[in-house]
Amino acid sequence: MSDYMFILESHLSPEQSAVLTAVQAAAAEANLSLFLTGGAMRDMLGGFPIRDLDFTVEGPAAKLAKDVAKRNNAQILSTDEHRKTAELQFPNGVMCEISMARQEKYGKPGARPQVSPATIHEDLRGRDFTINAIALSLNRASRGLMVDPTNGASDLERKELRAISNYSLYDDPIRILRLIRFKARMGFEVHERTMQQFHNAREAGMEKYIPARALFTELRHLALEPSPSEVLKALEEFKLLQLFSPGLTGAKLNPGAFAKLAKAKAMIPFGAPFSVDWYALNMFCLTQLLTPKEKAALLENTKMSKEEADPWQKLEARIKKLEALLKSAKLSKASQTFDALKKVPGEEILLLFLKSAERIVQDRLKNYFTKYMPTAMEVTDEEVTEASGLTPDQPKFAKARDERIAARLDGRVRKPAPPPEPEPPPPPPPGRGMLGRGRFR
Ligand code: CTP
Repeated sequence: MSDYMFILESHLSPEQSAVLTAVQAAAAEANLSLFLTGGAMRDMLGGFPIRDLDFTVEGPAAKLAKDVAKRNNAQILSTDEHRKTAELQFPNGVMCEISMARQEKYGKPGARPQVSPATIHEDLRGRDFTINAIALSLNRASRGLMVDPTNGASDLERKELRAISNYSLYDDPIRILRLIRFKARMGFEVHERTMQQFHNAREAGMEKYIPARALFTELRHLALEPSPSEVLKALEEFKLLQLFSPGLTGAKLNPGAFAKLAKAKAMIPFGAPFSVDWYALNMFCLTQLLTPKEKAALLENTKMSKEEADPWQKLEARIKKLEALLKSAKLSKASQTFDALKKVPGEEILLLFLKSAERIVQDRLKNYFTKYMPTAMEVTDEEVTEASGLTPDQPKFAKARDERIAARLDGRVRKPAPPPEPEPPPPPPPGRGMLGRGRFR
């Protein structure tokens, strides 16, 4: 296995690894050259967590995406016929993008580029920043070979953001915002010439040419950032937030809500099965202080569809019943609170934590994160089998697990004692130890 394949494998979650294997298998069968590219490569080499997988294929990407989706029961979330890319979500939650290796020619800034099939090298040279233009071959004959025509790996090492061409930000002005976002997220320096290009592009007002849908994509990226408030602050400094809505100025950035959300996020136990629609939650915080008119401007400026707006616009209405339930005296045992929350989407629980002024609700939510979830995660299959006599392949096992968790939460049974430590081996008789080690050297 090449060094890079090894680094990649050790950075991926088991779910991401399964997706990598599935896409590789489909591409190999279709005889297509496949590469891991973009953010996934940047994050792997930079030591950041890999969020989603970006694949580039030399050939018909849409056909490969359909094939992968069909074989793996994945959902095609969106396709861009013009740029030949498709976004997929797998049943295990992993998101990936499959794109055709392409060359884009821009007649005018922000205009629809002319797209033509290209080699991986040509594709990489047309990207925004060098750290985003690294590929890893996933092809049988060259698996693990890194393709890095603009020396992105060394910029990653130096922690520097460098535009690939002198026209990067002019060709596709959304990159003006991307530059700020990557800088805020990773804390990298911007290369001198790129900074000059940034100032020139701003002086020329290039941000006017950003298409509404590119703004929406950027807003979605922003809402999925690990720390959106840092990026928002940076965009505000450069007076770029008004592109989304004229009302989105410093006073409306809602730092209190983002700080409380970060506090709640830190309470979620590592590895807990707790899925959150961060887009909905962060968009709620971002728009909470906007007037209806300012929100309408945001929808208009990003041409946001109803399906894209509903998740955050309707989020608050979804938590009313949950708050009433968590206030109720009916929940007298820990297991009842746990049951009331375990199937509720994470974004609703976190929003309730942000919004509820009820002490009892706050306390129950805190207990859920800091006591009940960790206790439930401690219950192993072996423990359930020992208590119930059922094995995980039997249909009643899930119910037995729930019962065991409830018993542990309510203090009816205790955590099993850890297995006894093995007895330490007796010390070697004097004089024999050295001799023994020497014999096996
Ligand atoms: N890209 C580009 N110019 C753009 C948008 C994207 O060159 N305007 C390229 C970059 O190489 C980028 C890749 O397409 O890495 C994938 O884009 P995207 O998914 O938007 O970004 P990521 O780099 O994956 O970043 P994130 O971590 O925010 O998902």
